[in-house]
Amino acid sequence: MKLLTNQTKLRGTLQVPADKSISHRSVMFGAISYGETVIHNFLRAQDCLSTLQLFRNLGVEITEEIDQTIRINGKGIEGLCPSSSPLDCGNSGTTVRLVSGILAGAAFSSTLIGDASLSKRPMNRIIDPLTQMNARITGATEKGLLPLKIDQTNQLIPITYEMPVASAQVKSAILFGSLQAEGTTTIIEKTPSRNHTEEMIQQFGGRIQQSGKEITLVGPQKLTGCEVNIPGDISSAAFFIVAGLLCPESEITLKNVGINPTRTGILDVVKQMNGQIKLTEEDSVNQSATIQVKTSELQGIEIGGAIIPRLIDELPVIALLATQAKGTTRIYDAEELKVKETNRIDAVATELTKLGAKIQATEDGLIIEGPTPLRVFQKKQQVSSHNDHRIGMMLQIAALLVETGEIELAEAEAVAISYPQFFGDLAKLVQGTSNE
Ligand code: S3P
Repeated sequence: MKLLTNQTKLRGTLQVPADKSISHRSVMFGAISYGETVIHNFLRAQDCLSTLQLFRNLGVEITEEIDQTIRINGKGIEGLCPSSSPLDCGNSGTTVRLVSGILAGAAFSSTLIGDASLSKRPMNRIIDPLTQMNARITGATEKGLLPLKIDQTNQLIPITYEMPVASAQVKSAILFGSLQAEGTTTIIEKTPSRNHTEEMIQQFGGRIQQSGKEITLVGPQKLTGCEVNIPGDISSAAFFIVAGLLCPESEITLKNVGINPTRTGILDVVKQMNGQIKLTEEDSVNQSATIQVKTSELQGIEIGGAIIPRLIDELPVIALLATQAKGTTRIYDAEELKVKETNRIDAVATELTKLGAKIQATEDGLIIEGPTPLRVFQKKQQVSSHNDHRIGMMLQIAALLVETGEIELAEAEAVAISYPQFFGDLAKLVQGTSNE
C-alpha cells in the first residue's frame, strides 16, 4: 500500500475506536457472568472479533446490533459448552492467554490455536501459574507454543504467585482461574500492569482487593451481567498524538479517550519531552478525557522502569517521536517488546533506519538520536509492518514527515487487527474534518 507522505497542517477532531483490552474483557466477563451484559461501543476489529467468535463457539448467545452494541446472555462458566473445533484466537495474545484462565477449570477439554505470529509467542508464562492451580494445560513444545491443549481437571486450587514479568495478560489468566478456585489467590506484582481485569471483576459484582503490590481474590465467585461503556483506546490515540506533535502547523483533538492511569504513560512522556498536550472534559466515572495536541519542539528523555508497562504498546510510535526530539532518547527495561506481535525492538529499528532515523536496537530497548529528518533513499522505498498492526500505523505516521519520494508499506492489512478505519481517520485530519 502506498503511504501518505509530506503532510503539514493536520487538523480536526477524531473519535478513536474503542479500547481493545476492555472490549476483549467485556465479552469474556459477559460470557462467564449470569444474566444479560450490554456492551456499548465495542471494538469491531479483528482481535476482538476473534474473542467474540470464540465465545460463540463455546455456545454463548451473543447478538450484535448495528451501533456497535453487543448483548450477551451469560450462563456462568458452567454454561460454556465444548467447541466442536479448535478455538481460533487469530493474532490475539489477550484472547489466548485470558481464555486459558477461563477454560482452565471448565468441565470439558479445549484446544486453542492462532495465526503464525501468535504461534511463535511464549505461553509458558500462563502454563506455569495455571498448572500450579491444578489446570491440565500443555503447549505443543517445551517452549509452550500453540496449539494449547486444556484438559478437564477436577478443581482449581488457589495460589500465591509472584509475577516474573509485568504482564496484564498473565495476571488476568490467573484471576480468571482464581474465580473458579476455592480459597485465596494472591498475585504479587513488582511493577503494576494495566488493571482492567481487576476493575471489571468489581463492575460485574465480584470482590477483589489490592494492597500495595498484592492483589487478592477469594474464590469461587459468581459474577452478574451488567452494562459496559467502552472509552476510546489511548493506544490508538497515540498515533494521532504523535502525528499532531510532529507534523508542522498541526492541531488535533481526540475525544473520549480512555485515561485509566495504568495506561497513560504516553501522556507523561509527551509532557516530559515538552510536547504541547492538554486534557479537557475529564470524566472520572468512565475514566476518559478529550486530548488536544499541537505541533511542538521536543526534547529527548530517558524512558525506563515502572513507566514501561504503562506505555508498552505505544513504544514503537514513541520511538518515532524521539527521532524528532533534540538529543538522545533511551528506552530501556522494555525487553517485553521482543515477544509482541513481532519483535518490536528489531522491527522499529530496522524500519525507521530505512527512513534515515538514527536508532539503535539494544537488548532491552532502543537508543535514538534526534532530531533527524526522515527521508527515503530510493525513489520507491519499501517498508514493512512485519505483520504487526502497531508497526504498520507507526510507519504511516513516520511517512507523513517524509517530504519527497514514495513509500510502499508491505503487509498493511495488519492494521485491521486493532484499527480498521485508521487510514480513513488520518485522511480526515489531512482534510481538516472530523469523524464524529
Ligand atoms: C494487554 C496486555 C499487554 C499489551 C497487550 C494487551 C491486555 O500485554 O501489550 O496489547 O489487554 O491485557 P502483556 O500482558 O503481555 O504485557
